[in-house]
Amino acid sequence: MNCYIIEGGRPLRGEINLQGSKNSALPILAATLLNRGVSVIENCPDIKDVETATEILKALGCTVSKEKNRITVDSSNCGKYIIKEELMCKMRSSVMFLGGLLAVNKQAVICYPGGCCLGERPIDIHISALKAMGASIYEIYGSFYCLLDKGKSAEINLSYPSVGATENIMICATLSKGRVVINNPAREPEIVELANFINKMGGNIKGAGTEKIIIKGVRKLKKYVSYTVEPDRIACITYMTYGVLTGGKVKINNAPLTNIINELEAFSSMGCKISLSENSVEIEREGKLNSFGKITTMPYPGFPTDSQPFMCLMGTACEGESVIEETVFENRFVYASELRNFGINAVCKDNKLYISECHIKNGKAYACDLRGGAALTGAALMAEGESRIYNIEHIDRGYEKFEENIKSLGGKITRYYEEESAEGIG
Ligand code: UD1
Repeated sequence: MNCYIIEGGRPLRGEINLQGSKNSALPILAATLLNRGVSVIENCPDIKDVETATEILKALGCTVSKEKNRITVDSSNCGKYIIKEELMCKMRSSVMFLGGLLAVNKQAVICYPGGCCLGERPIDIHISALKAMGASIYEIYGSFYCLLDKGKSAEINLSYPSVGATENIMICATLSKGRVVINNPAREPEIVELANFINKMGGNIKGAGTEKIIIKGVRKLKKYVSYTVEPDRIACITYMTYGVLTGGKVKINNAPLTNIINELEAFSSMGCKISLSENSVEIEREGKLNSFGKITTMPYPGFPTDSQPFMCLMGTACEGESVIEETVFENRFVYASELRNFGINAVCKDNKLYISECHIKNGKAYACDLRGGAALTGAALMAEGESRIYNIEHIDRGYEKFEENIKSLGGKITRYYEEESAEGIG
């Protein structure tokens, strides 16, 4: 099993260039199916989930090439429509190919997608929306057999502003014969990016980022499109947290400032010193941190659920008690029990996590999901002495040059392969 050995207690200082956004790159790669042509995607993060997305595209008949952070997809020969279970289960975003396959090949066979285990994570909202657009979908022994004879106009009222479902509808509706309206769509920045990409390709999507999205189907798209992915807002919060909590000073270049307003407000209410320039953020700690009070995760523009593991870590360095209420996923505090191996003082009750100031000591822990794993790494960077983080494959799914960035800031982190021991860890 791969693990990180971290020699903590060193202040992280310096600057890094932020990677491209994972959650933007993945639906955009799925949408490259639409034009049956060439899409050049720049600033694609070099991470495992992007690799999985390119494997799916290749398995569907696309030609994919990669040169540093540029991925070129030629979808002219995408004739296949089955995504095998071993690819589907590697990440949640594999479900995003459903909308694209129905749009271009009129059929798809998929199973339940994998991804971080944050709760049940059903796909019922995706399925019912695609059915409203004219798709026939049958679930047989956990596989979905999907057909879209003629797409039709639809007005879809989402019961919850699901990010993935909104993206699937947008992708599928791009080539539909009618006009699809989504009421109560997700409004995350990644939705706006997907709309920008599809529109650049010749699609007609209006209202992305607002409470109503209108997609007018087009007959044809451009055979060539190029697009540059925006920087990753959650990776930005990750490195900001590491800088503050190790007592260092970190500057992040290409920071997506308008997309991290909630976190910037929270950091500043805690008393962090933040300097902003046009596209960079620099952060450091000035003495004791104040409690951030209570944070409630919500769909955008609310506080992002993906940032809450980092706020939990911040809570350990704040005076008094801080509270996180999780409303998006029902099982997103698993990482907190692993953080107990580092001495964290946190109690979970009724989907709320109560965190008190505590001394973080070195320890060993298992990453259970991507952001939780990055929070465990943060604890290891804070603690004096050697710590080990196992299951780091979760971290590989979303962070580009993770060790390289931490090392460049002065951290001591080594990737190591360790045989699983019978006694287990923590
Ligand atoms: C995306 C992000 C993820 C982020 C999440 C919420 C990607 C690749 N992932 O995930 O990092 O944490 O948004 O901001 O972009 N739900 C249903 N039925 C459905 C779909 C969703 O009940 O058909 C529920 C989920 O179980 C969850 C909530 O809706 O409780 C939010 O899910 P959703 O917005 O769909 O998140 P993802 O697209 O999976």
